[in-house]
Amino acid sequence: MAGSDELVAAARAAREHAVADFSGFKVGAALETEDGAIVTGCNVENASYGLTICAERVAIFKALSEGHRAFTRLAVVADTPSPTPPCGACRQIIWEFCGDIPVVLANLSSIAATHQMSDLLPLPFDKRLLGR
Ligand code: THU
Repeated sequence: MAGSDELVAAARAAREHAVADFSGFKVGAALETEDGAIVTGCNVENASYGLTICAERVAIFKALSEGHRAFTRLAVVADTPSPTPPCGACRQIIWEFCGDIPVVLANLSSIAATHQMSDLLPLPFDKRLLGR
């Protein structure tokens, strides 16, 4: 298992690839898989605005598309004095595909906080309600 520093470093590096021409707000994410791999993502914006995808979902969808199915931690990095937590849409996707993992929030210079997903999304809708 990578240390938080290694996971956050991967998220910081991924942030450099952000395609954020409209907001200028670059975000990086790094997802640790159960077998110790790290899969990264950055936000990708486009002219429709609404089709923008956040760094967290890019990392999760990349990981799923590469065959990973079990995840242990997620790091999110933005260049903000206070930590940038995942948006509501990302919380849903993180919960459904990663479960109750810790989410490490950091900026370019320090690690600010770690939150469990069950604290970030306390009353989730998920497949259990569909009987799955
Ligand atoms: N964004 C992320 O990638 N992750 C977050 O946790 C918050 C927001 C992106 C979406 C958009 O490209 C930009 O940041 C401004 O909202």
